[in-house]
Amino acid sequence: MVDLLAESAQFLTQTYTELAWTGLAERLSAVRAEIARSGSYTLTPQELAHGCRLAWRHSTRCVGRAYWQSLRVRDLRHVTEPQDVFAALVEHLRLSYNGGLIQPTISVFGPGVRVLNDQLIRYAGYVRADGSVLGDPQNVALTSRLRALGWAGGSGTPFDVLPLAIEQRGQVHLFELPPDAVQEVPITHPDHPWFAELAWRRAGQFGPCPPGWTLRWHALPVISNLRLEIGGLSFGCAPFSGWYLETEIGARNLADAGRYDLLPEVARALGLNMSSERTLWRDRALIELNAAVLSSFDAAGVRLSDHHTVTRHFVRFEARERALGRAVYGRWSWLVPPLSPATTAVYHRQYEDVELTPNFFPAEGGGCPVH
Ligand code: ARG
Repeated sequence: MVDLLAESAQFLTQTYTELAWTGLAERLSAVRAEIARSGSYTLTPQELAHGCRLAWRHSTRCVGRAYWQSLRVRDLRHVTEPQDVFAALVEHLRLSYNGGLIQPTISVFGPGVRVLNDQLIRYAGYVRADGSVLGDPQNVALTSRLRALGWAGGSGTPFDVLPLAIEQRGQVHLFELPPDAVQEVPITHPDHPWFAELAWRRAGQFGPCPPGWTLRWHALPVISNLRLEIGGLSFGCAPFSGWYLETEIGARNLADAGRYDLLPEVARALGLNMSSERTLWRDRALIELNAAVLSSFDAAGVRLSDHHTVTRHFVRFEARERALGRAVYGRWSWLVPPLSPATTAVYHRQYEDVELTPNFFPAEGGGCPVH
């Protein structure tokens, strides 16, 4: 049981104090009365906005928290019908993408509705007859769930965008995202034209690469299955997005053996000596893959962090918070980038992992983990 009185008082006190708002005592007694009368209370739009920003600031796994104050908050608490939620999510994709100058954005919807996909944009993972996977192996379970819910399947490329499953009152509704809402960046390498064909070659194909198979990633990560908690209140549908960090794509999504697994193909095409681990062919391939992600996003004019800059900003954020008398908690294994970790300052620091609220939590009844 949440102690709504205590949680609301704690959140409002923190918010009014941090933002130097007046009228805390009046607000607290109004909220107390509202809870006594109705069993719950309603945040003002301004309180909601700060609550969302605090949820980001408190996210111990996020290395991009230096920008927490820039979060744009869309107050959509009056929206609960699946069709309307979907339309607002499409709008979210457009607003947050912002022509490439990605604007961190959260959309907070009303009660009783949620998105089953763990991110708004996900590539299908189809299991082939021989057990191998076409597409993103991480999304095999989501893909078969959507198939079971009636999705006919995509066009059979490694980058088929999955439909959204929006649940309300035990009913699941499927929606296809309009292609122009799904911005993607073609991944190419300034020195190696074959880079665009990596997924095609990885699948053992030799002919000309069909357009649907050229290497790419989507511009916007939009986490859509976490529950947002503010002042004891829960928001089950509150998708949020920021810009990518290059290693998420180049050192994990496209590189992990359990994901697109492109390192062997990159190494082969680079002509590296793969006869022994000691030639460091994996490491060399990894560097080129990350270089390709960085230069591709730059060429496309789409905002993306690199791991050196984002960690430097993170350490600066820690100092700023400390100067304001606030502790910064973190999960070391998530903050440290998966590429050249010890070249970044966060590697050499220690973090205590404490979950403060407001924050984002796994949805009730479980959900897919966010990577
Ligand atoms: N790691 C996840 C992915 O590769 C995205 C998590 C959120 N990342 C972010 N930069 N906001 O899709």
